[in-house]
Amino acid sequence: MLKEIWQRRLQLVEKTLLEELREDSALNAKLSDAMKYSLMAGGKRLRPVLLMAAADAVKSDGDKFVTTGAAIEMIHTYSLIHDDLPAMDNDDYRRGKLTNHKVYGDGLAILAGDGLLTLAFEVMLRQKDVDADKLVRVVREMSDAAGPNGMVGGQAIDLMSEGKLVSREVLREMHMAKTGALFKAAIRSGAILGGANENQLEALTLYAEKFGLAFQITDDILDVEGDEKALGKPVGSDEKNQKSTYVTLLSLEEAKKLAIQTVDEALCALDDFGDEAEFLRELATYLLARNS
Ligand code: IPE
Ligand code: IPE
Ligand code: MG
Ligand code: MG
Ligand code: MG
Repeated sequence: MLKEIWQRRLQLVEKTLLEELREDSALNAKLSDAMKYSLMAGGKRLRPVLLMAAADAVKSDGDKFVTTGAAIEMIHTYSLIHDDLPAMDNDDYRRGKLTNHKVYGDGLAILAGDGLLTLAFEVMLRQKDVDADKLVRVVREMSDAAGPNGMVGGQAIDLMSEGKLVSREVLREMHMAKTGALFKAAIRSGAILGGANENQLEALTLYAEKFGLAFQITDDILDVEGDEKALGKPVGSDEKNQKSTYVTLLSLEEAKKLAIQTVDEALCALDDFGDEAEFLRELATYLLARNS
């Protein structure tokens, strides 16, 4: 079931992203190309898929919210373009292709990221068929998650922690922010749009926090023992940059144990949900077996 639903929704996301890009071609053709290059380079589209799955979990139809899903994918793609820059992780491959700055140069890559971040909010706000109060809540979720208290803040901790031995608390805070925040925004936004009540929102928030943490732990593991071809990005990037990760702080084995435990906690958070949350359960379990 996981593969079919994921594949169908992935197609829906691809189609929506293309439509939104067409709606808003940039002033400069090269900038348009650079934005499209990374956005349409593949990617698992996990955040939009989670957003839709969270709406399903509260008995709504996730498909209706694909535009907001496309917007979060734009924010995520911007974060990847900037993450790969020479001043950050200095990586040459992403989503199986040369990184944005390798093709367009650092300046345009920075602008392509800026463009995608801003466009995401425009895409969210120009929706006509979403309740205005819910939309305001979702925009708030997204801006909090992307900003200095979320992804950008986590990336700053990541950068400042290079070459240092950080505590487990700092590492957790960093992972929850640089990666967890966008997952949390995706899941909470899907729940809000789908009409979740307070109890459901609380449970899905807990699921999202555990999911985000487990996702970055498995990302750290794959950076050590993953396959570059399957991943579409280089392995060994963290070691090259002397990053602080769960693998360096603990060990590969301990990191794997922690991933299993964290996925388990994510599943527990869904205990009060029925079959409608089955896809969310499968997505959490998938984290432990993923190779890309
Ligand atoms: C990679 O995210 C960056 C992290 C937050 C660890 P994904 O693994 O979801 O990347 P894509 O979107 O599939 O390329
Ligand atoms: C970055 O974490 C998370 C982002 C906010 C982009 P990583 O630097 O580990 O992500 P990858 O491994 O390059 O995808
Ligand atoms: Mg990084
Ligand atoms: Mg990186
Ligand atoms: Mg990584």
